[in-house]
Amino acid sequence: MSAKVTKKRTPGPKRSGKKEAPKKRRSAKSDSYANLVVQLRSLLNGEYDFIANAANFSSLVYNSLPDVNWAGFYLLHDNELVLGPFQGRPACVRIPLGKGVCGFAAKQCETVIVPNVSEFPGHIACDPASKSEIVIPLFDGERVLGVLDLDSASLARFDDQDAEGLNELVTVLVAHEEGLDE
Ligand code: SME
Repeated sequence: MSAKVTKKRTPGPKRSGKKEAPKKRRSAKSDSYANLVVQLRSLLNGEYDFIANAANFSSLVYNSLPDVNWAGFYLLHDNELVLGPFQGRPACVRIPLGKGVCGFAAKQCETVIVPNVSEFPGHIACDPASKSEIVIPLFDGERVLGVLDLDSASLARFDDQDAEGLNELVTVLVAHEEGLDE
């Protein structure tokens, strides 16, 4: 299977008694995600309706990240992912848990990067133009609430930095809904 499964959570900085190594210079991509976090916090400010916030989230990501042809949410209801707010072409509405890239990521509770969707068994093609994909689960504690899904018309569009940046963005969204960012 041509898919990369990354750790459930982005690990925080390791602490040890040893002298810290010099900090690596941030890449342009991580700077751009840091900028998106600032914009997202501003969009969320004072609003707690999840659908409204997820809609603005998907618009922000879709319109800011290069080479993305679909960005949006599937929300978990009774072992089924149901289409939520998104930007892009119309998409399939219901995905059983475990099916497709989205169902796989939700079932495994893992971020999944698929460099070539045609090599992922059971990939669900909503837009034939999509060539690569990344799916990030949303967590309430250990419980999966749904997933964020991004597609690209380019092969291998998404990497570990995208996984890290998108994980941070969804963490900000969920923490805000739960009032944990006050
Ligand atoms: N490709 C996804 C289905 C959702 S669309 O890409 C919007 C999947 O295999 O789960």
